[in-house]
Amino acid sequence: MSYATLPKAELHMHIEGSFEPELMFNIAERNGIALPYDSVEALKAKYDFNNLQDFLDIYYQGCAVLLNEQDFYDLAWAYLLKAKEDHIVHTEIFFDPQSHTDRGITFDTVINGFYRAFKDGEAQLGITFRIIACFLRHLPEQAGFDIYPDILRHKDKIIGVGLDSSEVGHPPEKYQRLFQQAKKDGFKIVAHAGEEGPAEYIWQAIDLLEVDRIDHGNRCLDDEKLVQTIVDKGLALTVCPLSNLKLCVVDELKNHPIKAMLAKDLKATINSDDPAYFGGYINDNFRQLKQAVGLSDTEVKQLIINSFEASFLSKQEIDKHLKNVNDQAD
Ligand code: HPA
Ligand code: ZN
Repeated sequence: MSYATLPKAELHMHIEGSFEPELMFNIAERNGIALPYDSVEALKAKYDFNNLQDFLDIYYQGCAVLLNEQDFYDLAWAYLLKAKEDHIVHTEIFFDPQSHTDRGITFDTVINGFYRAFKDGEAQLGITFRIIACFLRHLPEQAGFDIYPDILRHKDKIIGVGLDSSEVGHPPEKYQRLFQQAKKDGFKIVAHAGEEGPAEYIWQAIDLLEVDRIDHGNRCLDDEKLVQTIVDKGLALTVCPLSNLKLCVVDELKNHPIKAMLAKDLKATINSDDPAYFGGYINDNFRQLKQAVGLSDTEVKQLIINSFEASFLSKQEIDKHLKNVNDQAD
């Protein structure tokens, strides 16, 4: 049994974080935008981060070359080809509308480009998808309310809302009213919590935002009562090992807490987060993590089963995928 060829779902991937430098230079050139780097190599040399903010500064800069619907299409299509190689059969992706609308790009340009690519991916590559719109938590809650009508207008394409960007200093409680509205309107709710921020932010994501899933969640391990609550509620964690390494959430991959999470019955999943920036797509995450911490076949299989169980697919679709995993894992 190999993680590499088993069908799997990805639940934590920022589509703007799959922007490979080569494609970035390509799109910058066709849009007549000068990147502040001479070459792909010079850009890649900047991918040495000490924390989340170091990364976000580079990530938002990369977003700035995306102008036209076709740019968003091309970005998503490039990810889908990587996903296919890694045997991803279902993906639930994030996008950051405010990182584009704040530059004068219309919401419709962004969502229509992404959506068309994912519909083509479904038809041509057999990869199903869900789209989650994230609010940038470094901006005021009101900025989220300002963009919210666009998200609601595209509810046929967007399954849920999330919360990302700079975590520390921007606790979930700051967004409680916005997420209450989204919940009332029938959106699924997720939030990045406990990546750099404390366990308290995870409590808030659960109690105040009423999340359906926790993105990252590493810091729950600091609080036994919180771990028990997450297990009891059956909430999944979308864990991102190479991201954790590159953003110094863990000092070395061999110290990654994935085995401890599974041992505590936390429904952990493996995800690539921002693969173009963190050195690998989902199978790279499995490969390097397995090598570093020595995952057993049982643990690998559990992580893959969790990826489907924690997805926003129907019970019937989940069961179909689990049967395929079981058939191929034996
Ligand atoms: N963490 C928080 N916000 C983000 C990330 C991340 O890894 N990627 C894009 N926005
Ligand atoms: Zn993330």
